[in-house]
Amino acid sequence: ERLPELLRRIPKAELHIHIEGSLEPELIFSLAARNGVALPYDSVEALRAAYAFSDLQSFLDIYYAGASVLLHEADFHDMAWAYLQRAAADGVRRAEIFFDPQTHTERGVPIGTVIAGLSAALTKARAELGVDADLILCFLRHLSEEAAFETLDAALPYRDHFIGIGLDSSERGHPPSKFERVFARGRALGLHVVAHAGEEGPPAYIIEALDLLQTERIDHGVRCVDDPALVARLAAERMPLTVCPLSNVKLCVYPTMAEHKLPALLDAGLCATINSDDPAYFGGYMNQNWLDTFAALPQLGAREAWQLAANSFEAAFADADRKAAWR
Ligand code: HPA
Ligand code: ZN
Repeated sequence: ERLPELLRRIPKAELHIHIEGSLEPELIFSLAARNGVALPYDSVEALRAAYAFSDLQSFLDIYYAGASVLLHEADFHDMAWAYLQRAAADGVRRAEIFFDPQTHTERGVPIGTVIAGLSAALTKARAELGVDADLILCFLRHLSEEAAFETLDAALPYRDHFIGIGLDSSERGHPPSKFERVFARGRALGLHVVAHAGEEGPPAYIIEALDLLQTERIDHGVRCVDDPALVARLAAERMPLTVCPLSNVKLCVYPTMAEHKLPALLDAGLCATINSDDPAYFGGYMNQNWLDTFAALPQLGAREAWQLAANSFEAAFADADRKAAWR
C-alpha cells in the first residue's frame, strides 16, 4: 500500500496535543506506584476500559483524574519524553505542546516544577530526536478569569519556556469572551494566541475567539461548517484549524470517521491540519490519526496528504528559516 506509507513518512507538524493527554495507562500506574498515589482502578485494563466517552465532559473527568499522579519534575519530564519519542517515530518534526498548569497547581504542584520537567524533555528532544518542540500554556475555561490571570502571573518567571497561550477544558457555557482581558495581557507580552472553539460549542464561539481574543489559530473549529459565512472568512484569512479526527469520533462530535467534515474543510480552502489532541485517550498518536482518517474518507488521497502537511508547517509558530529545517 503506497498511501499509508506516504502518510507515515511524510514530515509533519503537530499543533494540537495536550501533554497530559499523552499519559498512557501504564505510565499512570507506574507514576502512582512511584509517588504513592491511590487510583480508583485496580489495573491498567480496568482504567483503559473506562475510556468510553459520550461527550467532552465525560472525557475531561477521567483526564483530570489521570493527571493526579503527576507530582515531581521527573514525572512531567517522563510524560513529555514518552510523547516526543512517539512523535519522532511518526515523522513529527515540529510539536507545539499544550500544558494545563491549573490541573497541577490546584493540587499544590508548583508551576515551576511543571515547566521545568516539560522543558527539560523538549530540550533533550531537540538534541536527540530532531523534534523541534515548544510549549503553549492553556487556561482552563471552566475556572475563572481571575484564576487565569493568577496562572499567567505565576508563569511569568518562566516566560522564556513557553511561546503562547491557549484555552481548553469544558467549552459550552464558557465562551472566549470570558477571557478577553487575560488574552489581551498575553498578546501584550508577545505570546502567541490560540483557543479551542467550535469543538462542541457553536460557530459564535469561533467568531468570539477571532474577534475578542485575536487568535492566530482555532483549535478544533470543526463546527464552523454550520455557518457558511464563517467558513468563507476562515478561508479568506487562511486561519488555521487544528483538527483532531480521532478525538472528534471518540467524543461523539461525529458518529463515525466516515462522517468527518475534514474533506469539506479542505475543499473550502481552509488551512486545516490533522492532530492527535489526547492520544493516550483517543486511540492513537499522530500517524494513527492520519491513517484512520484517510482510510475512512476515500476523497482523501496523496494530494490531500501533501496539502495537510504543508498546512501544518504554514500554521506553525516559527520564522521561515526555522521552518525550512523541518522539511
Ligand atoms: N477539548 C477541550 N479541552 C481539552 C481537550 C479537548 O479536546 N483535550 C484536553 N483538554
Ligand atoms: Zn484539545
